[in-house]
Amino acid sequence: MTRYEFLRSCGFTGGALFALLSCVKEEDSYVEAMTRNPDGSFTNPDGTPAGGVTGTGPDESLIISTKELEALDFLYRVNVSSPLYTRLLTRNNYVVLGNTFVLALSREGRYIAATVVCSHENNRTVSYRNGEWYCPQHGARYSLAGKGLNEYGAKGIKVYKTAFDGETIVIYE
Ligand code: FES
Repeated sequence: MTRYEFLRSCGFTGGALFALLSCVKEEDSYVEAMTRNPDGSFTNPDGTPAGGVTGTGPDESLIISTKELEALDFLYRVNVSSPLYTRLLTRNNYVVLGNTFVLALSREGRYIAATVVCSHENNRTVSYRNGEWYCPQHGARYSLAGKGLNEYGAKGIKVYKTAFDGETIVIYE
């Protein structure tokens, strides 16, 4: 595959494609080395994931035993086999639980949780968007660790731990 074909397969077109082609040197070899997978992730030539983002569901390496899960002093629990929560089996989806928590499956396949209350004006409108916590009221942005990323989100946001045993997700502190 040529650099041109590779970059086209990544969705680059027009000026962006030209800019990338013009800055890739002849000696660069990585563009021919990686493979793009149907889910948009990349694989190195040795078969290992490139960029750390693969798959579409939960990262199975993070699953703990049901016994370990039940030992946690959880604040909320959901069963992903319930039709209410099956969307949590696909990355970049979220649900709001009890008007209290936002629970999402990140693009890396990790369950993440935060309060639904925005620290800007205390509206219960926080959601998950593009790998961040986000409030649409005025546009507050927070990192997944709860740090404010713009003026509206400057106070940060409360985040929680999660655990998953393959069927149940719990939120805890
Ligand atoms: S209430 Fe969330 S950004 Fe203002």
